[in-house]
Amino acid sequence: MNILGISAFYHDSAAALVRDGELVAAVQEERFTRRKHDERFPINAIRYCLQAGDVRDGPDAVVYYDKPLTTFVRLLRTYLQVGPAGFRSFREAMPLWMNRKLWIPYLIERGLGELGYRMPRDLYLTEHHESHAASAFFPSPFASAAVLTFDGVGEWATSSIGVGEGNRIRIDRQMLFPHSLGLLYSAFTSYCGFRVNSGEYKLMGLAPYGEPRYVDHILDELMDLREDGSFRMNMRYFGYVGGMTMTNRRFDGLFGGPPRLPESEITRREMDLARSIQVVTEEIVLRMARHAAATTGQRDACLAGGVALNCVANGRLLREGPFARIWVQPAAGDAGGAVGAALYGWHQIAGGTREPDGVTDGMSGAYLGPEFSGEEIGRYLRHHGYAHEEVPDPDRWAHRIAELLAEGRVVGLFVGRMEFGPRALGHRSILGDPRSPSMQSIMNLKIKYRESFRPFAPSVLAERASEWFDLDVESPYMMLVAGIREERRTGDDAAHGEDLRTWVNEVRSEIPAVTHVDHSARVQTVSRERNPEFHAVISAFEDLTGCPVLINTSFNVRGEPIVCTPEDAYRCFMRTEMDHLVLGSHLLDKSDQPSWTEDRRWQEDHVLD
Ligand SMILES: [Fe+2]
Repeated sequence: MNILGISAFYHDSAAALVRDGELVAAVQEERFTRRKHDERFPINAIRYCLQAGDVRDGPDAVVYYDKPLTTFVRLLRTYLQVGPAGFRSFREAMPLWMNRKLWIPYLIERGLGELGYRMPRDLYLTEHHESHAASAFFPSPFASAAVLTFDGVGEWATSSIGVGEGNRIRIDRQMLFPHSLGLLYSAFTSYCGFRVNSGEYKLMGLAPYGEPRYVDHILDELMDLREDGSFRMNMRYFGYVGGMTMTNRRFDGLFGGPPRLPESEITRREMDLARSIQVVTEEIVLRMARHAAATTGQRDACLAGGVALNCVANGRLLREGPFARIWVQPAAGDAGGAVGAALYGWHQIAGGTREPDGVTDGMSGAYLGPEFSGEEIGRYLRHHGYAHEEVPDPDRWAHRIAELLAEGRVVGLFVGRMEFGPRALGHRSILGDPRSPSMQSIMNLKIKYRESFRPFAPSVLAERASEWFDLDVESPYMMLVAGIREERRTGDDAAHGEDLRTWVNEVRSEIPAVTHVDHSARVQTVSRERNPEFHAVISAFEDLTGCPVLINTSFNVRGEPIVCTPEDAYRCFMRTEMDHLVLGSHLLDKSDQPSWTEDRRWQEDHVLD
């Protein structure tokens, strides 16, 4: 039985295919269209999933990840409530609803028809938070667990607490719009001059530079937070109900002036705001978790929804929270809704079995996207006459890459199936030497084209992780932040100036390029079973240097989705100052390549994103 899950029309459209309970493919539309966070109908993603699953006539059922009619009613009711003030926002929102969102079944049928598939008789719509909850629990390794979801907003729900048991999930409690942890965090993201729905990471990365001096303001003025983690927001400070902005003048008054302009200098105020909202977020997540543990009696928990991408909060929940283990859906945002919807179809609707072993999850390392054979890559390179060397022996291959990294070169690694979700996990990654104090700046300025205060993330051999980080569980999806071990830390925490730039290049540990200002790191643990190629490269690097850690950043430049095809990878390689490119068993040296003629404007466009 083939079940197709679809999420679309909000941000990060995606498709997923579940066959007889097994997740066989999942991919975001942006990877094909090359438009970041593409929210359009995911026709390319659907095509890929059905082809990858070798589906002949069409899927047996389609499950869409939310209920547009319910959301529509919520919008109408909100607009009626706010009256004429909401008219502009209403007018701008309506065309998308009239032309798209209210016609989901028709659009799905038309899309499948265009691809030559028939529409199945069974089309289901799940609630948005049911999709998130399903994406959290069903692929988790647990037989039963508490299930927590939190995001901006679905139909009405903004967070939920429930239980997963066997092949069923049940949602017990929900918090409703406009009171929303995701929207609260996004309001601060926007106020600090970052883009809503993508700049939240930057705000989280900025937090360790600041002091939590606005926490009382937030708790006293902006919200009424209860012991169980639920809260009501004081909507007098926010503009998102019927308005065009997240925050309003009253909010400006509370935090000392107008919002920061995008790309302008980051001041102490933004650092302190970032830290303060991070502290409040962690407090809310912890209270919700304690309440969920008490009411469900579960030992373990599963998380999804955009707020579950806050890996700092996840790390704290693991260390200080009530649960023995937590599992976070790697595509915690709305893309993961496609996976949740398809699994919901199999388990909850069709009653399909589920037999977790308590250890292995059902996400296959998130390696659920397109892959390209050595044959295809070779043909591509030969066709274009791109100089390359083939190294078929796996040991020699890993050793060669490790040597380049140890010499300080930056290497793009492209192997196997593309990752699903926002993180690159060693199949579409740019790698570097984390011991180098200058590597963070080099990679930010020459490869990613961003001036960033955020350090890169480390990938570490799973068996060595606890020797380098305060982490005693696996973190295969980079969803946890952990401290660098005390004995690996260096330097002193002398007083810092006001200027962020003076902080960025400070050496704080043996692996400075991946060490944040508070000695934390967003860790990926790499196991041999799950990821043999990447594991071999890091092992070879350890043999050469004694360090089982590499910098791992996603294979793309700022403003561009992660590369999908060998062609995307080659283009990104040539457009940046990356030194080497690994396409499967093929190694490419930048200095051997024909010159790349392209308008330099492309880079400038991306710097401004
Ligand atoms: Fe969501």
